[in-house]
Amino acid sequence: MSLIPKAELHLHIEGTLEPELAFALAERNGVELPYAGTEDLRKAYLFSDLQSFLDLYYGLMAVLHTANDFTDLAEAYLARAAAQGVRHAEIFFDPQAHTARGVPIGTVVEGLAHALDRSEERHGISTQLIMCFLRDQSAESAMETLDAAKPYLHHIAGVGLDSAEVGHPPSKFREVYAAAESLGLRKVAHAGEEGPPAYIREALDVLGVERIDHGLRAMEDPELVERLAREQVPLTLCPLSNVRLRAVDTLEDHPLRAMMDAGLLVTVNSDDPSYFGGYVGDTFHAVREALALGQEQLRELARNSFRAAFLDHDEPRRER
Ligand code: ADE
Ligand code: ZN
Repeated sequence: MSLIPKAELHLHIEGTLEPELAFALAERNGVELPYAGTEDLRKAYLFSDLQSFLDLYYGLMAVLHTANDFTDLAEAYLARAAAQGVRHAEIFFDPQAHTARGVPIGTVVEGLAHALDRSEERHGISTQLIMCFLRDQSAESAMETLDAAKPYLHHIAGVGLDSAEVGHPPSKFREVYAAAESLGLRKVAHAGEEGPPAYIREALDVLGVERIDHGLRAMEDPELVERLAREQVPLTLCPLSNVRLRAVDTLEDHPLRAMMDAGLLVTVNSDDPSYFGGYVGDTFHAVREALALGQEQLRELARNSFRAAFLDHDEPRRER
């Protein structure tokens, strides 16, 4: 594990739900899970692609009901992150995955915010919350979600775009990103995880995002790589996720080192650490071993994480 101080910029709070907490919450809320126990659940963590993961991931969210559940979830992540050298965390959540089950967005946001508001004091981690739209749902549903979030925007720093990528290009969400911008929200989007390089261009040019989450498939398009390097667009890579969801065969095959060598501003993150075999410090350690990274490269990755963060030093980037 690596204790080097770092920021984590690509972390889905629902993806930190450990099997033990899932069963504890299931008991607390009277929810029956279709697994015999924590070991049985862990055995189901064998994914063939993004969709096979998302099916299990959304299913397990059935245990999350009360604001207290969301507080406990975030508190457990922050304690683990602190032990792995995280000093700043920009945390995604998926409101539609909860409102669709009858859990109001206010319950989710206020529950998470309760843990985040005391995080600096308890864990030495500053935090931001980023609300993601589910791209496999309609653009209208995303706009309704932004509307429903309006009473809670003092807790929310930005918007993101996640869930099943292929067939749901960024341009589908042009209007809701424009509305988010006019509300003063920062903008990021998953692109180029399973989707083509064209989705990365659209996220930049149509949505005006400031960072690309993943961006792995940029490497198929040399002109795009050149642009991303020139504009120093941050890419929040998640190498353990890419292995578990079969975007790359093995960690040794991951293009992280090649991306650094190409001059890209890359960061290393955990995505959904409960499901993908490690938190961000574990991820730093794993890539160091698999890609034979030196101390200077690890320091560069840590430095990049603070450069790419939405900290005070950073005004919104110019429109592209
Ligand atoms: N939601 C949670 N993890 C995700 C990922 N890796 N890609 C897209 N949506 C997600
Ligand atoms: Zn993600």
